[in-house]
Amino acid sequence: MQAVILVGGEGTRLRPLTSTVPKPVVQLVDRPFIAFMLDWLRGHGVDDVVMSLGNLADGVRAVLGDEQPGLRLRYVEEPRPLGTDGALKFAEDMLDERFLMLNGDVLTDIDVTAQLRAHEASGARATLALYPVDDPSAYGLVRLNEDNSVREFVEKPAPDQIDTNNISAGVYVLQKDILDLLTHGEPASIERDVFPELVANGLYGHVSHGYWKDIGTPERYLEATFDILEGSVATEVSKRLGSAFTCVEDGVRNAGRIVPAALVEAGVTIGEDARIGGRAVLERDVTIGEGTTIEGAVVMQGATIGAHCVLRNCIVAAHATIGDHCYIDGQAVIGEGVQIGPNNQVTNGARLFPGVVLGDGALLF
Ligand code: GDD
Ligand code: MG
Repeated sequence: MQAVILVGGEGTRLRPLTSTVPKPVVQLVDRPFIAFMLDWLRGHGVDDVVMSLGNLADGVRAVLGDEQPGLRLRYVEEPRPLGTDGALKFAEDMLDERFLMLNGDVLTDIDVTAQLRAHEASGARATLALYPVDDPSAYGLVRLNEDNSVREFVEKPAPDQIDTNNISAGVYVLQKDILDLLTHGEPASIERDVFPELVANGLYGHVSHGYWKDIGTPERYLEATFDILEGSVATEVSKRLGSAFTCVEDGVRNAGRIVPAALVEAGVTIGEDARIGGRAVLERDVTIGEGTTIEGAVVMQGATIGAHCVLRNCIVAAHATIGDHCYIDGQAVIGEGVQIGPNNQVTNGARLFPGVVLGDGALLF
């Protein structure tokens, strides 16, 4: 089975993590995000993957390389952003008659084999995985008829258009002939230009069960992290964490406490009386000062956190440094290499971009 994964977007909503690293290869718990998608697809018989690249394309290639176990892996790179369907048209020569198309930012374990069966049974030209969410406004809302054909597809619905919780999960089974609706080389959106055209003309939905999350904002990235740590989504990481929901790799120097659920990677140093967890990820070579609390937070590779800090509900990107007595909370995202002096408070969704240097007590946000 073939799968085309769209990974060309700019990842704007996940900045500054995506300022230096393309969204598909931003580290999530213990691996580049896209590895979760490849594992899941492999489990449903996918053996041929086409990555549709755009923004920061080289960064994706550098991480994934040309080989992944059990998969033929090819890349197509657009000369300029062509949108979700322009990108597909651009890859036309490589496509099978029937294939999967996926948004490259969803963490999921839904049963795509069942979706394929539904697609075959209905004779659809396109079958969308549907997933119920509390607030559909950030997604493509899908209204269904009794026979599971799509009555309406509304991308990013306004509040008064929301009359169902079913949204498109960004997981599609497609027949190649839908590409006849498009012109080669022109930007197009599958959500806005193609799906509305296919209503009453071969567009079906398949309500999926299991776990699903678009990881494209700091809030959802953190939720996905915690769900992986706690085993709420079926992933390979669960094997490493075991029934204690904790993995401390070899080569960790720990003078503090580690509370489940947590992943602490090799080369990490944890100071006296520090408390790590619950729900914490410390990537390779992170240093945590004495008396510091890291709870519900991710600290990426090589970052250094001072003494007597509190980090909650936040993400600290690689090689950032944070001085003593800092308080970081409220979905703050500290970009790669940012330097924060002592006595700073960073909360309320603040995002500090690479290159930022804050002096002693410079910010109370
Ligand atoms: N190659 C390529 N070129 N890929 C692109 C482009 C492009 O120009 N634009 C976006 N993408 C990729 C992104 O990298 C991402 O993986 C995927 O297409 C979807 O783009 P997002 O920007 O994340 O879209 P969204 O989250 O606002 O909405 C989409 O996903 C929802 C589910 O998460 C829509 O498909 C919604 O209908 C859907 O509900
Ligand atoms: Mg998205």
